Amino acid sequence: MRLNSILLFIVILFYCTHGLQLEFYPGAESFHQTGSQFNGTAWSVTSQDPSERYLTYGPYTVAWNTTVPSRVDFYIGTDDNLGDPWNVLTVDVNDATMDHIITSRNISRLDFGYRNIQPQIFSLYFNSTIGRQLEFRVFYHCCGQFVHYKTVVSQLDGGPLADFFAGQAGLELVSSSVFPTPHGDPSSTMWNVGTYVKPIDGRWYVFYREGFYAPTPDFCNGIVPLTRIAVRNSTDYGKTWSEPAPVALPGNSTFDNCAALDGAPFYDNDTDTWHYLAQCIGNNRRWSLCHYSRPGSNPMAGIFTPNPKNPVVQGGQLWSRICSGTGKHCTLTMYDEGTPEIVQKLNGWFYITFHGWDAPNNRAARGIARTRDFVIYDVAGYDLPDDAIFSPLDCNDWNITWNPKSLCVGGGEGSMVRSGDYFYHLIEAPDGTLNCDTTLGEQNWVLGFLRSPTLAARSGEWEQIHYNPAFKPEKKYGCGLQYHRVFRDGNDYFFSMFVLDFGVNNLTMKIWKVVPGKTSFPVIVSFP
Ligand SMILES: *[C@@H]1O[C@H](CO)[C@@H](O)[C@H](O)[C@H]1NC(C)=O
Ligand SMILES: *[C@@H]1O[C@H](CO)[C@@H](O)[C@H](O)[C@H]1NC(C)=O
Ligand SMILES: *[C@@H]1O[C@H](CO)[C@@H](O)[C@H](O)[C@H]1NC(C)=O
Ligand SMILES: *[C@@H]1O[C@H](CO)[C@@H](O)[C@H](O)[C@H]1NC(C)=O
Ligand SMILES: *[C@@H]1O[C@H](CO)[C@@H](O)[C@H](O)[C@H]1NC(C)=O
Ligand SMILES: *[C@@H]1O[C@H](CO)[C@@H](O)[C@H](O)[C@H]1NC(C)=O
Ligand SMILES: *[C@@H]1O[C@H](CO)[C@@H](O)[C@H](O)[C@H]1NC(C)=O
Ligand SMILES: *[C@@H]1O[C@H](CO)[C@@H](O)[C@H](O)[C@H]1NC(C)=O
Ligand SMILES: *[C@@H]1O[C@H](CO)[C@@H](O)[C@H](O)[C@H]1NC(C)=O
Repeated sequence: MRLNSILLFIVILFYCTHGLQLEFYPGAESFHQTGSQFNGTAWSVTSQDPSERYLTYGPYTVAWNTTVPSRVDFYIGTDDNLGDPWNVLTVDVNDATMDHIITSRNISRLDFGYRNIQPQIFSLYFNSTIGRQLEFRVFYHCCGQFVHYKTVVSQLDGGPLADFFAGQAGLELVSSSVFPTPHGDPSSTMWNVGTYVKPIDGRWYVFYREGFYAPTPDFCNGIVPLTRIAVRNSTDYGKTWSEPAPVALPGNSTFDNCAALDGAPFYDNDTDTWHYLAQCIGNNRRWSLCHYSRPGSNPMAGIFTPNPKNPVVQGGQLWSRICSGTGKHCTLTMYDEGTPEIVQKLNGWFYITFHGWDAPNNRAARGIARTRDFVIYDVAGYDLPDDAIFSPLDCNDWNITWNPKSLCVGGGEGSMVRSGDYFYHLIEAPDGTLNCDTTLGEQNWVLGFLRSPTLAARSGEWEQIHYNPAFKPEKKYGCGLQYHRVFRDGNDYFFSMFVLDFGVNNLTMKIWKVVPGKTSFPVIVSFP
């Protein structure tokens, strides 16, 4: 064991706009059992240092005098994120007064997205008891260079959407438009949906599926119309949209020669690259996921390049791993990874959610995985639940007279946005089946709103509004509300969705802004 020559002890306690916060710099503290000071305020260990001991322990603070749900962020870097999945570090929150570990988490090398020794954030969530001495510890198991830069403890804050979540904010309709459909084919009116709005620098980009842009080849008959992804821009909250530019095209292979549709864009500011992850299908008649990307910040500057490893996810590939094992909220017959959404990039990992369909059991769920490159996916690991995040468990108790034969079948498309320290999830839930039953009065198809501070929360652990559903169509049509999104533009939050009146084949895209006011749930979405 090595003694630290610096006996400085710095705890910075302050109240920021989001409540109480504490910051610790390990290089300025004496609580270490291995390693040495690094670049001033950090603390580092290498494979030459003793293993199986605390890189950082302490600081035995009693300053965390709050019972508000809290989070501690450990900022840690490494030089090697490849190889084996064994535990290299364990982080924990320890109640030193009671000698009790409140929460802990193992970290493997693979949990680091970057290996150039840069700070990456590993979080733990906890509730504390006032008056206890707390430690925020990093245990070094073995083998590698790790730098502990700092530790930050915060009270969780729901951000601007917290008021809406509590019914203490209103919705203002900012646009209600007949989404433009460029071609004469009447069926395209109800087909060209699948939207995803991405605001950047005051301009909104809407990515959507566009069918009938060219004749559908015979081999796609009975599957889907030939469909591509296109993007338009708007500077008036979606009242009007520019001419489209194509983003992702069907390919020439049996897995993608009919359609690319119903996916999600993501602009990665780290690498100045746009990504689009789509559902793809060809005359193999199997849904897969395909990835497309393009350098530069303008998504309209040219067609995205298909990933040479497409299809990057084949049907069932992720669900079979998520649902294996005991205590899961889905079964091994779940497949059909679809409606992917790229929720965030954290520590070099993209976090992707997607729906699943279990035909033998007539059940649907939403799951989550992470990838560094859109080719290799993990379903377990840091910040992943290794389980469904939404299943019938989450919607059966909603204020809906579900079809008694099926109750709620589970979740389909979902959209998440971060506000404050929480992920807010807007997700559709039907009864009967996950397919749209467009006969009036037959199928419930509603949207719920839930939140969690961590993406590792499993089905049943997401907090619900009081009480769901949040949105319900005025007329009871399966898929009457479709392709809903919740998104942020600067400090403003928006909800968007299509309202489909199958009685008269009218389709309207509605967008609301969250504004001061009140909302009582369910919001009944009126038909045009
Ligand atoms: C050391 O600290 C300086 C100043 O804070 C920073 O610019 C530099 O990147 C750090 N070096 C390493 C290796 O972290
Ligand atoms: C917590 O500590 C701060 C600063 O020491 C103090 O202002 C505040 O009143 C304390 N709160 C409670 C609940 O003890
Ligand atoms: C960390 O890993 C060890 C060894 O595999 C295991 O015993 C322990 O339960 C794990 N801790 C957590 C919080 O997962
Ligand atoms: C903390 O307490 C809240 C209720 O106040 C609870 O919803 C939450 O799950 C708890 N968090 C943890 C990490 O135990
Ligand atoms: C908006 O769309 C129009 C029509 O495609 C295009 O000419 C223009 O460059 C786009 N503007 C931006 C900033 O993407
Ligand atoms: C498919 O093949 C045709 C004819 O060989 C070619 O023109 C087209 O660019 C190909 N499309 C893709 C997406 O590779
Ligand atoms: C992208 O990063 C640059 C600097 O790296 C920053 O100035 C800019 O605000 C970022 N843009 C977005 C959309 O995050
Ligand atoms: C349940 O929904 C109905 C109509 O959809 C609404 O009138 C009622 O207020 C809701 N109940 C509660 C307790 O929110
Ligand atoms: C569909 O509804 C919109 C209102 O959103 C209306 O302006 C339009 O005329 C309707 N179209 C048809 C074909 O009924």
